[in-house]
Amino acid sequence: MRAGNLLEVNGLKKYFPVQRSLASRLFGQRPGWLKAVDGVDLFIREGETLGLVGESGSGKSTLGRTVVGLYEATAGEVRFEGRPVKELSPQERKSFRQKVQMIFQNPYSSLNPRKTVRQILDVPLRMRGVPGPERPSEMEELLERVGLSRWHLNQYPHQLSGGQRQRIGIARALAVHPRFIVADEPVSALDVSVQAQIINLLMDLQEQFRLTYLFIAHDINVVHHISNRIAVMYLGRVVEIAGSEELLTAPRHPYTKALISAIPEISKIRRRERILLEGTIPSPLNPPPGCCFQTRCPEKKDPVCTQIVPTLKDVGGDHFVACHLY
Ligand SMILES: Nc1ncnc2c1ncn2[C@@H]1O[C@H](COP(=O)(O)OP(=O)(O)OP(=O)(O)O)[C@@H](O)[C@H]1O
Ligand SMILES: [Mg+2]
Repeated sequence: MRAGNLLEVNGLKKYFPVQRSLASRLFGQRPGWLKAVDGVDLFIREGETLGLVGESGSGKSTLGRTVVGLYEATAGEVRFEGRPVKELSPQERKSFRQKVQMIFQNPYSSLNPRKTVRQILDVPLRMRGVPGPERPSEMEELLERVGLSRWHLNQYPHQLSGGQRQRIGIARALAVHPRFIVADEPVSALDVSVQAQIINLLMDLQEQFRLTYLFIAHDINVVHHISNRIAVMYLGRVVEIAGSEELLTAPRHPYTKALISAIPEISKIRRRERILLEGTIPSPLNPPPGCCFQTRCPEKKDPVCTQIVPTLKDVGGDHFVACHLY
């Protein structure tokens, strides 16, 4: 593990079993696998934000959940603070679960509607071992950190606005003193004006607490603001990783080029031609052989692209791309 990396993911796979119909089983087809994450390599440096983008169904949430341990990996490893998570003792695993937290897209469904804010925040404080009498003042401080006040302690989630609920979700994650947070589309369900406030809050907290983020979003526009680097996912694989500016101005992978050409504000400035991709993303039940993007790639070369899976190559300047063109 390279010095300075808080987290590393090597060859990570997460497959979900799929039951085939009785008829197809009678005809000898075995149960299939949905390859949600299919061999991901990446690292996240201490204190940085890695943005993770990709269209719906590309495996972003599954990757995030597998990294924090909500899903068990099918293959590959996650290393945190230099150690494979799989090899941690029960005691160390408990500490890992505190240091690594997740913030979800829908703060309403991730907060228990029958519990007050006080009850919601009590759980992580107890988990960190904060004695009962000290919890009220800790709660007030937490609420202040996320831009709320003690006045909210007796409220239920439905009494809060979307932005306030997400602030509670953030406070709950902070309560255990994490080092690393996976934020899975934390602003996608919010109004545009509120999105900016929550992103600014996350950036302030990162500075105050030296947090490291994996920030998941559909939209490059949302992540490029907050991210030091951005990883692009397609059909369960990371196809490109580079610094935010570099990725926007000098994308290498044909898929990333198409994504970026579709952002009007950016393509206007750079007078880029819009690249329209043909077809839709293939099913992860039946991904194409070779490069995962070969069925839609305008620059496909037979037979290399249709037969050989490209791995991430270092193209210099902290820029990695999984494409046979490089
Ligand atoms: N628990 C599960 N069981 C079976 N299949 C799943 C499960 N979770 C996700 N999938 C499938 O895995 C693939 C990747 O899903 P995932 O939710 O990780 O994508 P995503 O990139 O987060 O998409 P979105 O942008 O819509 O949130 C999809 O085909 C999805 O249907
Ligand atoms: Mg998702």
